[in-house]
Amino acid sequence: YRRLRVALLGAGVVGSQVAALLRQHADELADRAGAHLEIVGIAVRDVDAPRAVDLPRELFTTDAESLIVGADIVIELMGGIEPARTYLLQAINSGADVVTANKALLATHGPEIFEAADQVGAQVYYEAAAAGAIPIIRPLRDSLAGDRVQRIMGIVNGTTNYILDRMDTEGADFADVLRQAQELGYAEADPTADIEGYDAAQKAAILASLAFHTSVPLDAVHREGITQIDASMIESARKAGYVIKLLAVCERVAEETGDEISVRVYPALVPREHPLASVHGANNAVFVQAEAAGNLMFYGAGAGGVQTASAVLGDVVSAARRHIAGGVGVGESTRANLPLLPFGKVNTQY
Ligand code: NDP
Ligand code: HSE
Repeated sequence: YRRLRVALLGAGVVGSQVAALLRQHADELADRAGAHLEIVGIAVRDVDAPRAVDLPRELFTTDAESLIVGADIVIELMGGIEPARTYLLQAINSGADVVTANKALLATHGPEIFEAADQVGAQVYYEAAAAGAIPIIRPLRDSLAGDRVQRIMGIVNGTTNYILDRMDTEGADFADVLRQAQELGYAEADPTADIEGYDAAQKAAILASLAFHTSVPLDAVHREGITQIDASMIESARKAGYVIKLLAVCERVAEETGDEISVRVYPALVPREHPLASVHGANNAVFVQAEAAGNLMFYGAGAGGVQTASAVLGDVVSAARRHIAGGVGVGESTRANLPLLPFGKVNTQY
């Protein structure tokens, strides 16, 4: 097989698992990708920091920029806006395909990054950027490209679902469970992103952009978090037959002037018999309602290192196949041929 040079940026909760699986399943992945995926280096802040998995010390560097030069595939798992944005743009402009799980970056600088990729014929893969291990980006972008999505409703943040679920089922304390979610690697580096709904709003913007073939800016997403939810509210909801879940709802709304879209994230009262009520722990679930397909449901791990690594590696294999095919084929252009529909203003009311 041909050898493809893979640069990994970040070896935290997700990155370390990606590196471990790339090494552990190297032969199988080579068969599937049609290329040997060789990790040429791993950029981190501290090369001596303890890692969740054992990886060769010589792979680590703090010099991400040098690592990017000459890489065929760059996997960005650092998180945050900068320097992730700069590195992704460098990677794209140096001819690499990029894989990222960084929803914060894509929800704020997605158009810039996709445009840069389109200009040089590179590809941006981001299956892990929404709902962890659940395949939802490709289904919305590819499988449902011939349908008309009407509505997406889901639990898209594992940390908040873990917190609300433990409060509901065990009467656990908010701060205690948040700490556990951080220890388990579910939470963002700054967990405010989770509990204030920013992470779910970023994912909702990404999903709505794909589902409705437009570009939904983050500031058009109505956002509420779960910091106001206390034990008494959870108890009152239970007595009334409900459970509180942080929901992301993206929908087409028929207006006199034509279709508009509404995207919002908020803690909702979900009837206990509703399927979303039985999404426990850090799992996520996404319901998609499409005109022809009807109702589709996607369910699985919404956070966690190895689970998210699965989605990242799927993207890496797709990127490798595209390289081997000469830059065409599987996972072709994310956006170039998706027209902007005349939805008019984005409706944030609900
Ligand atoms: P971590 O905070 O655990 O890891 C971040 C890694 O990036 C660390 O290895 C860190 O280095 C490195 N890093 C951070 N900043 C820099 C920098 N300026 N230069 C070089 N290296 C840097 O994050 P996660 O693995 O949890 O998340 C990574 C991405 O995946 C994020 O975008 C997150 O939103 C996304 N994601 C996370 C999920 C999860 O369950 N955790 C699920 C789905 C997506 P060092 O180790 O030396 O500090
Ligand atoms: N912090 C995120 C969550 C990670 O809890 O869902 C997965 O995107």
